[in-house]
Amino acid sequence: MTTTTTAPATTTVLDASGVTMRFGGLTAVRDVDLTVNTGEIVGLIGPNGAGKTTFFNCLTGLYVPTEGKVAYKGTVLPPKPHLVTQAGIARTFQNIRLFANMTVLENVLVGRHTRTKEGLWSALLRLPGFRRAEETSRERAMELLEFTGLAAKADHLARNLPYGEQRKLEIARALASEPGLLLLDEPTAGMNPQETRAAEELIFAIRDKGIAVLVIEHDIRFIMNLCDRVAVLVQGEKIVEGPAEVVQADERVIAAYLGTPFEGEPGAAEAAEVEAAEAHSTTEGDDK
Ligand SMILES: Nc1ncnc2c1ncn2[C@@H]1O[C@H](COP(=O)(O)OP(=O)(O)OP(=O)(O)O)[C@@H](O)[C@H]1O
Ligand SMILES: [Mg+2]
Repeated sequence: MTTTTTAPATTTVLDASGVTMRFGGLTAVRDVDLTVNTGEIVGLIGPNGAGKTTFFNCLTGLYVPTEGKVAYKGTVLPPKPHLVTQAGIARTFQNIRLFANMTVLENVLVGRHTRTKEGLWSALLRLPGFRRAEETSRERAMELLEFTGLAAKADHLARNLPYGEQRKLEIARALASEPGLLLLDEPTAGMNPQETRAAEELIFAIRDKGIAVLVIEHDIRFIMNLCDRVAVLVQGEKIVEGPAEVVQADERVIAAYLGTPFEGEPGAAEAAEVEAAEAHSTTEGDDK
């Protein structure tokens, strides 16, 4: 018998179809279809109030969509957050949601409760079943803290972490539920450029572990560097979707989302700086 090695087939991890969310007279998300496949990092962009977070809330069962359905690996998900997490979708929040008075390690351990048979209360109350599972959980949580670069701060209270590290901790906690798909809502908001680059590396590393990623972000350069595919929401509707470089050049995106000629193009700022410096040195030369 011969064995052949083939690359793992691409499968659809997330399949959202016809997702609509109305709040009274306001349609925040209108008939949105979106898929995410294994091995992909997909970006979701759009102006403030476009419906990006609402769409995430529909995917994760926080909101029950007015219409449409959300399937994970071929199974339609019930709109209940704990069942969605159990199925394999984890998320972080635009407004960080950590247990501020718990340690960094404890926050990650709480994130594991959907994967331990003992459950959240057992974890919090430290019942006997929990003690047995605790060692394994701690090892895994420490691994995740190593992975996200927070291991040295395992015993610090979450509230004492700088903002950028709180965002990383949210990611570590989300990873603790062992997801197949990670949803990130503005993971670099409030980060400096160096932290943003580190976040980029972290997200690539997450993808390389076989976890598909769907990421909302306003930082266009970050999105264009990171994503295989980008979808654009404007006033609740998906107006464009495609490879990053195609979306970046799309007139409708430039008009609807960016408003002005594309300022976020990778390298544009540097090119402008170089141009300005050259012009300056030429002028200086003329003065001599
Ligand atoms: N629970 C709610 N009840 C009523 N309206 C809501 C609710 N949640 C969101 N909205 C409205 O839905 C629209 C989309 O909001 P959403 O927060 O999804 O936008 P967003 O694209 O995430 O914006 P941002 O980039 O500012 O985070 C907004 O008009 C918002 O006011
Ligand atoms: Mg939002």
